[in-house]
Amino acid sequence: MKISIIGAGNVGSLTAMRIAQDGLGDVLLIDVVKHKAHGEALDLEDARPVLKYNYHIKGSDDIVEIKDSDIVVLTAGLARKPGMSREELLTKNAGILKSVCLNIKELAKKAIVIVVTNPLDIMTLYALRITGFKPSKLFGMGISLDTARFANLIAQELGISCTDIEALVIGAHGEGMLPLPRFTKVKGVLLDEFIDDKKIESLTARTIGRGAEIVASLGTGSAFFAPSAAIAAIVKAIIKDEKRTIGVCSYLNGEYGIKDTCIGVPCRLGKHGIEEVIELDLSQEENARLIKSAALVSGAAAGLLTYV
Ligand code: LAC
Repeated sequence: MKISIIGAGNVGSLTAMRIAQDGLGDVLLIDVVKHKAHGEALDLEDARPVLKYNYHIKGSDDIVEIKDSDIVVLTAGLARKPGMSREELLTKNAGILKSVCLNIKELAKKAIVIVVTNPLDIMTLYALRITGFKPSKLFGMGISLDTARFANLIAQELGISCTDIEALVIGAHGEGMLPLPRFTKVKGVLLDEFIDDKKIESLTARTIGRGAEIVASLGTGSAFFAPSAAIAAIVKAIIKDEKRTIGVCSYLNGEYGIKDTCIGVPCRLGKHGIEEVIELDLSQEENARLIKSAALVSGAAAGLLTYV
């Protein structure tokens, strides 16, 4: 398996490390900055004798190296600065993504592509249009990270292990995100058995604002430890054909009453990429909020897509 990670910023580099150390395949790290990815790959390689594991990692500034990749993870692009929304990155990151996607289309036709660049849902839709790849083969990481954040905050609130929590978040990876307490359980017991509505509302708000909270604390750049863990889990589900249900940003064509846009929903992932979009039994209100979230993505993407 050849896994290429485009963009050797914090998210890309850590993803490369996790995927290599998990033994998921031969990792290639690409960055436009001359020699950066190469240097990082050398450093990652030097850790092998310490870890006693011969993983394969290579770094390059030449995108041609992605040829015949099985999986491409797209992290290239600028990260948010304090006070910025993900949407403010739109035009700059679209420009970066366009040339990268044209290269993927030409060099790695059979690859499964995971988009991570923000604003994630819009970039996923844009990348689909440019590559013309099937939606099952090109989708975004986003809400699995938000789901992890929701679970973590619940665990802290209840003072219990986060591994006992099955949380669920759908919608856009941004302000339109919808943490779903009604689908969130602690060892099979619904969340509202443990905490009142007010607390749930506060946890929901903190989940939506978690990325911005981290950006504000870091001062420069955005989160990378949890995002890279979320990406690695998706790559593993594909490579090991796990058939796990993970929330990803998928193209919808009628599911949830949403057409022709990308939004975060639970999907079954396996060796073919998205093997099934799971349709949750949402309440009318929840579904209406998801439709609204998707409409925001379509609206924001509209201008961009006229130039594809
Ligand atoms: C975040 C960025 C990576 O949510 O979108 O932290």
